[in-house]
Amino acid sequence: MKRDVNRRYELVCVRCKAVYPGDEPRNRCDCGGTLDVVHDLEMLKGRIDKRVLDERMGSLMPWDVSGVWRFRELVAPLSCDKIFTRPEGNTGLYISGRLSLFTGIDNLRLKQEGENPTGSFKDRGMTVGITMARFFGMKTVACASTGNTAASMAAYAAMAGMRAVVFVPAGKIALGKLAQALAYGARTIQIEADFDSAMHLVEQVCRKRNIYLLNSLNPFRIEGQKAIGFEILQQMRWNVPDWIVVPGGNLGNNSALSKGFMELKELGLIDKLPKIAVVQAEGANPLYTAFREKRDLVPVQNPDTVATAIRIGNPVSWRKSLRGIEATGGVVEQLTDDEILQAKIEVDASGIGAEPASCASVGGARKLVKKGTIRPGSNVVCVLTGNLLKDPDTVIAVHKGSLGKNIQGRNQPVKVEPRLDAVLQELDN
Ligand SMILES: Cc1ncc(COP(=O)(O)O)c(C=O)c1O
Ligand SMILES: [Zn+2]
Repeated sequence: MKRDVNRRYELVCVRCKAVYPGDEPRNRCDCGGTLDVVHDLEMLKGRIDKRVLDERMGSLMPWDVSGVWRFRELVAPLSCDKIFTRPEGNTGLYISGRLSLFTGIDNLRLKQEGENPTGSFKDRGMTVGITMARFFGMKTVACASTGNTAASMAAYAAMAGMRAVVFVPAGKIALGKLAQALAYGARTIQIEADFDSAMHLVEQVCRKRNIYLLNSLNPFRIEGQKAIGFEILQQMRWNVPDWIVVPGGNLGNNSALSKGFMELKELGLIDKLPKIAVVQAEGANPLYTAFREKRDLVPVQNPDTVATAIRIGNPVSWRKSLRGIEATGGVVEQLTDDEILQAKIEVDASGIGAEPASCASVGGARKLVKKGTIRPGSNVVCVLTGNLLKDPDTVIAVHKGSLGKNIQGRNQPVKVEPRLDAVLQELDN
């Protein structure tokens, strides 16, 4: 029996608090609720501290180089030889005068998760998901995806020698992500419906065919995603930012961030929590409505937004998400598609660049400053979840003027005759 893991953590239902051992591939409680990995923090007290974690940054061992497994005691306490890592993380934390001006926040930082191996933050959860899939002896993994999870799972499965099946909404996934899933060899099933239907289907398929589900419903994915927050802290020399702003779709990422920070506080590594702000698109805003009306989540039917990564009406992790937002004193905001596109123009023109959904964090921070929720003097980190190159179609459409209304800063390409005078005339104009 694989006893090296399960004694140090349990799986606990977020809804009914039922407890399950960690040595079986389980993604839901018998009541249907989602599961948390609950670590034995008492046992960890005094065993990990900032110095140990910082020292690992100077090591060449893959599990120390990884911006996820460097924090392994709080991720999945496996022996290091079982870890499967690219490695992921170690993404840039940037400042930008342009984006400070745009948001009105002097102390703004941009955490560029598009620098991960497959170009999105999903790699942080996926290294843990694939490691656990192998640990459990599974041969095939699957996910429903708006694109980035599919790309990440396909790549990690290929490197680990596992079969991958991805379910994506037909015609509603960005070009770069579909290309990645195909290129990395995943069996790619385009469902003639939205993400929520694909998600519902993939759960049933996994149960019927003994396939390991690697959506962020999987509690170990969340454990890996926590490391975005841990790495931000290391990069800020353990000074806790006032706010962390993230886009919200299936709501795994923000749930992970708040869980990780709460664990660090309980361990005494930090003495306050950053407030978590989640930003949704107006056309896919079930969390925004639930938060505003202080009630359980009601799914949005036929969600729609230009930010296809967060085009989700029935997010799986909403209970975890609301729990974390409440615990940190955070908020939920929403943006129109034009506000997302305007933020994208700014993020891209700053030289950092990101895909549309990612830029909701920057657009959201700007809106929250205007509303007085975020004070301009605050220390704020906006997470850019995915690389600009994931969605070239949207970039071209915005700049050519066929997407978005009243967008400032379009950069139209021009056609010029192949003559020096014509080129010079164009430049002088
Ligand atoms: C680029 C990007 N941003 C944000 C999200 C939303 O993250 P979450 O589903 O964890 O809320 C996704 C999810 O696919 C994504 O791909
Ligand atoms: Zn339960």
